Amino acid sequence: MKIGSVDLASPFVVAPMAGMTDTAFRRLVKRHGGCGLVITEMVSSEGLVRGIDRTLEYAEYTEEERPVSIQIFGGDPEKMADAAQIVEGMGADIVDVNMGCPVPKIAKHNAGCSLMREPEHAAAVIGAMAKAVRIPVTVKMRAGWNDRARNAPELARMVQDAGAAAVTIHGRTAEQSYTGVADWDLVARVAETLTIPVLGSGDCVEPQHVVDRMRSGVEGVLVGRGVLRNPWILAQAADLAAGRAPRVVTLQERGRFLLDYIELLVNERVNEADGFRHTAPARPPSDGAQPRAIGRERWVINKIRALTSWYSKGLDAGSHLRVHVNAADSLRELHEIIDEFFLRADVVHA
Ligand SMILES: Cc1cc2nc3c(=O)[nH]c(=O)nc-3n(C[C@H](O)[C@H](O)[C@H](O)COP(=O)(O)O)c2cc1C
Repeated sequence: MKIGSVDLASPFVVAPMAGMTDTAFRRLVKRHGGCGLVITEMVSSEGLVRGIDRTLEYAEYTEEERPVSIQIFGGDPEKMADAAQIVEGMGADIVDVNMGCPVPKIAKHNAGCSLMREPEHAAAVIGAMAKAVRIPVTVKMRAGWNDRARNAPELARMVQDAGAAAVTIHGRTAEQSYTGVADWDLVARVAETLTIPVLGSGDCVEPQHVVDRMRSGVEGVLVGRGVLRNPWILAQAADLAAGRAPRVVTLQERGRFLLDYIELLVNERVNEADGFRHTAPARPPSDGAQPRAIGRERWVINKIRALTSWYSKGLDAGSHLRVHVNAADSLRELHEIIDEFFLRADVVHA
């Protein structure tokens, strides 16, 4: 499938997840196969334009992840167009607009899902961005703001007319947040009426769900929480789609994934080759290329804790793993816990 001029080798996509889908995680998922596109965590358009260090980190990606979509949020057409130009300048393949975030901190700034409450304005944002850049501008929205305003079908058409190259629908309303179930009938209705590619998102936690949802008429499926539980889900879905049995992932491989993730996080920005990492311009000039040694171990521990809260779901004695990881205070301890839980064949999970 194609988004604008960008070819995706697979229709299965890593959904954007704030705090979770950093560049290291995306690289690892990509290495396991089946993944046609990765999308960054949402990045503030304001922060990009002002060159705020923290924001710029969220936008970073590496060559290995291509094709890459950088997701931005904001409600001001001019700033969103400026931010889109920065994203284009970073060499990203696609710029995606967040119209789905229900968190009040974002929504109150006329951004995220609150854009769905002002469809004309939302379309103006997309129009301004599409005029400002040559890369495809895409939109990720929800079914609507609440049950009385499920306006994704109308808004999707409006952003298509304004120049969007693809639309993703997460079939829940902002009011639902993550409760209830995603409405894939609504996703299918949008897919039927638009001429640009429509992708769907919501509740694909098994490889078979991903393959089944492709039958709703969408051109692609985004997988969020399912990837956090099982980073092989896209590869397994690709196996199923090709008529093969889904690959079996051993407990050892699951442990190896966590160790690889730790290693990538620890070595982020350390001795990297020129051109490996793509960063946005910082202001004032910062030492963006240098590793930040202080606090790095703590940062990595927190990242592993956050991932483990999802990764341990469905595992035998997963709660046991969570408790131990949450109590770990050093990388050495984390290594020991992972080693014991996943890598020692004689382990008893009780
Ligand atoms: C922890 C977390 C963070 C998320 N952050 C974002 C985000 O930054 N941008 C976005 O468009 N959606 C975000 N989402 C929504 C997901 O991309 C996805 O649409 C939603 O979780 C439904 O798909 P799933 O059932 O496969 O998880 C987030 C979801 C989760 C669970």
